[in-house]
Amino acid sequence: MYRRTLAAFLAPLILFAQEDEAPPAPEAEPRVEIKTAPPAKPMPVATPLPVSRAAPAAPSAPAKVTYSQCNVDGPYIAMTYDDGPHGVQTPRLLDMLKQRRIKATFFVVGKCVAEYPEIARRIVAEGHEIANHSWSHPTLSSMTEASVREQLDRTHQVIKQATGIETRLFRPPYGAFTQRQRNWAHAIYGYRTILWDVDTLDWKHRSPARTEAIAMEQTKSGSIILTHDIHKATIDAMPSLLDGLLAKGFKFVTVSELIAMDRPQPRKPAATPAVTADAPSAPSPALRSSAR
Ligand code: NI
Repeated sequence: MYRRTLAAFLAPLILFAQEDEAPPAPEAEPRVEIKTAPPAKPMPVATPLPVSRAAPAAPSAPAKVTYSQCNVDGPYIAMTYDDGPHGVQTPRLLDMLKQRRIKATFFVVGKCVAEYPEIARRIVAEGHEIANHSWSHPTLSSMTEASVREQLDRTHQVIKQATGIETRLFRPPYGAFTQRQRNWAHAIYGYRTILWDVDTLDWKHRSPARTEAIAMEQTKSGSIILTHDIHKATIDAMPSLLDGLLAKGFKFVTVSELIAMDRPQPRKPAATPAVTADAPSAPSPALRSSAR
């Protein structure tokens, strides 16, 4: 139907051009069509070539595929716990969260879900978000597409089998995921790549006091806080840290809820790269060595 309409539009132009040898309309570029079309049969000129040329796809804004933090209207933050489920520490943490009615997001490793499916089910049953953190925690940025696909597929499936949830969030181990891979994961799985803006470095120093101090100092509205629920020291930090953040007035939401509240940055200088605008005070998480 579209093609027919276009043919009706183009035919008079072509006739006009053939009769008068007038200069073509600047945007329609009919000269090519005149040469290729037999004079006796003017209609076939409206073939797929001029159609695609005359009706370019409307450029749409590229989807936002990576989040390190969000721009939200209110004191909302997302606690994230990576690398579990852990047979002992994750249930401890879930008790602490439940006592405070706090919702968090768990980026789980597929093989750990296979080992502790009942803990994965508990995470979901208690209102938390569960998301993909690969199958075996490799550095994906240097792997083939087939290997990356296997890491994502197996984890997606084991989460679905254990909990019924089809996650739409992915956190690459070490934050190591190229822009091309992020776009690919979004196109294939609908995954958003979730990084962080507050890195507690809990896996490295294993100090509850430092985990708490870093998070208390760096957390702001819209923050995504990175910790790991496989270390005892991290979970030991949680009662005091969670209470401290609550006392500051922060409200805990899941990453998907935080993303849903994300709004475009209020000021947007035309030439400023998004990375700079996104993280004015801290280096990009992807550039830091990080987290197990
Ligand atoms: Ni990790």
